[in-house]
Amino acid sequence: MERLDKFLCDSGAGTRSQVKAMLKAGRVTVDGKVERDNGRKIDPNAQTITLDGEVLGGKRRIVAMLNKPAGFVTATEDANDRTVMELLPADLRKMDLKPIGRLDKATEGLLLFTNDGDLLHRLISPKKEVPKVYYARHEGAATEGDVAAFAEGLTLRDGLHCLPAKLEPLGAGESLITVCEGKYHQVRRMMASRNMTVTYLERRQEGALSLGNLPRGEVRELTAEEILALEN
Ligand code: URA
Repeated sequence: MERLDKFLCDSGAGTRSQVKAMLKAGRVTVDGKVERDNGRKIDPNAQTITLDGEVLGGKRRIVAMLNKPAGFVTATEDANDRTVMELLPADLRKMDLKPIGRLDKATEGLLLFTNDGDLLHRLISPKKEVPKVYYARHEGAATEGDVAAFAEGLTLRDGLHCLPAKLEPLGAGESLITVCEGKYHQVRRMMASRNMTVTYLERRQEGALSLGNLPRGEVRELTAEEILALEN
């Protein structure tokens, strides 16, 4: 539980005195009722707070995409490395977002976040099998034999089996790889099992979503249509 005025300030509504005036003017509601008491205790995760009819903080569902740069670990906290959370703008950092799945520290590209626990679990479930497209630069050339082995379903060097995947050689030492699962270091290990070493990896697409022209290191919220497409 926290004070309503503090919650409003933290949500970016204004300064303490501006928030007090907003409350006095009847512009704030808690669970549908106008609230004028700035000391009122609220639970932003369980209650809906609006300012001028707009839902604030806590319960607002957010799905956002980051174009992840190399050098950041996909974790909410880490003792040694910078985390992807540090790349979120201040207003989103307060929204209890969690990464959906993970990208290795060295991998760049599309990483989704949400504060909707149900959506998070649905999307990371192995049953969901969302196709993810990666661009890789690698040592060793991709052959027709490699393409066929990916399509059949690879066995990794440690004996783990992978679902059928797509390898599209683009040129010498460059390929697109589409996988529908998210095993640890999946693409790097798949390529290694065919004697190719990944030297650069970028996730470009996840289901219907693609990075588009989102600059590296930048975050944007998904549109309602994009969220809908993700859920289906
Ligand atoms: N596969 C990998 O090897 N690394 C990633 O970060 C994502 C997929």
